[in-house]
Amino acid sequence: MNTALRANAELTGQIVVVTGAAQGLGLGIAKELAARGARVVIADLQQEKAAAAADSLAETGLSVVATQVDISDSDSVDRCFARLVDAHGRIDVLVNNAGVGQHVAPIVALADQEWQRVINVTLTGTFYCCRAAGRIMEQQAAGAIVNIASINGQNPAALVAAYNVAKAGVISLTRTLALELAAYGVRVNAVCPGPVYTDFNKTVMAERCLSLGLTEQQMIERVRSAIPLGRWGEAADIAAVVAFLCGPQSSWMTGEVLRVSGGLEGVSAAPPKRS
Ligand SMILES: NC(=O)c1ccc[n+]([C@@H]2O[C@H](COP(=O)([O-])OP(=O)(O)OC[C@H]3O[C@@H](n4cnc5c(N)ncnc54)[C@H](O)[C@@H]3O)[C@@H](O)[C@H]2O)c1
Repeated sequence: MNTALRANAELTGQIVVVTGAAQGLGLGIAKELAARGARVVIADLQQEKAAAAADSLAETGLSVVATQVDISDSDSVDRCFARLVDAHGRIDVLVNNAGVGQHVAPIVALADQEWQRVINVTLTGTFYCCRAAGRIMEQQAAGAIVNIASINGQNPAALVAAYNVAKAGVISLTRTLALELAAYGVRVNAVCPGPVYTDFNKTVMAERCLSLGLTEQQMIERVRSAIPLGRWGEAADIAAVVAFLCGPQSSWMTGEVLRVSGGLEGVSAAPPKRS
C-alpha cells in the first residue's frame, strides 16, 4: 500500500470530481479525499495549474488526474461530465468547490458586469455541475454531492452582495436537490467555510484593507480575533468535513448545511458613509 493512503481508506475506488481544485480549498479537499482512497479528478478552468497539482499529488502515491472545465459554460460542463463517465463508467462523488469572489463595492455602486460575473460562476456554475452530475447519479441510483457555500450565504457581509446572494443560492440549490434526489439514494449537502487565507480571500482582504485604511497584518489579526476558536481556518479543516459528508459515516444525512468556521457566524459590520 502506498504511503500517502490512510489505513481507514473509506472512499477506496470511488470516482470523485472536485471542481476548482487547482489551488486553495479545492486542492486541500482533493488531497484529503484521495488520501481516503478515492480516485480524484481535479476539474478546473486553469488547465496547467490543475495538471501540475494532480501530478504532484500523484507523485506521493495518490490517484489524482486533472481535466479542464469552465463551470460557467453549460456546454463545457456537460462535455466534461460526459468525458468523465466515458473514462470511469460512473461518478460517485461531486464536490462543487469552484467559485469566484466579488470585488468589494456597495450595492449602489455595483456594476452589472460584476454582479453577473460572480453569479454566473459561483451560483449558475454550481447549478450546471449539480444538474450534470445529478442526471448521472439518478441513473446510478447512488452518489453524493457536496456544495461549498460560505458563511456569507447564511449571514451576508457588507460590500459583497453578489457573492452573498450566490452562496445563499447555493444553499437553497443544495436543499432543493437533496429533496429531488433522495428517492434515488443520492445525498446532497453543503459546507459553509469561514475564513481561510487562500488567493481568493487575500484578494478580498486586500480590497477591504484599502477601504478601511488597515495594513494586511492588522486585517489578519482583526479577522482572527473575531473567530471564537481564535485562529484562521486551514484547507484541511474544511476538507475533513467534506470527506465526512462524502463518506459512509454520513449515509443518513442529506440537505444539511454545515458551518465550518471556528464558530464565526458571519461578518456583520456596517461600513461608514462613503466620502
Ligand atoms: N477561502 C475562504 O476564506 C472561503 C470561505 C468561504 C467559502 N469559500 C469558497 O470556497 C471555494 C474555494 O475557494 P478558495 O478560497 O480555494 O478560492 P481560490 O480562488 O483559491 O480557488 C478557486 C478555484 O476555482 C477555479 N475556478 C474559478 N472559476 C472557475 C470556473 N469558471 N470553472 C472552473 N474552475 C474555476 C480557479 O481556477 C481556482 O482554482 C469557493 O467556492 C469559495 O467561494 C472560500
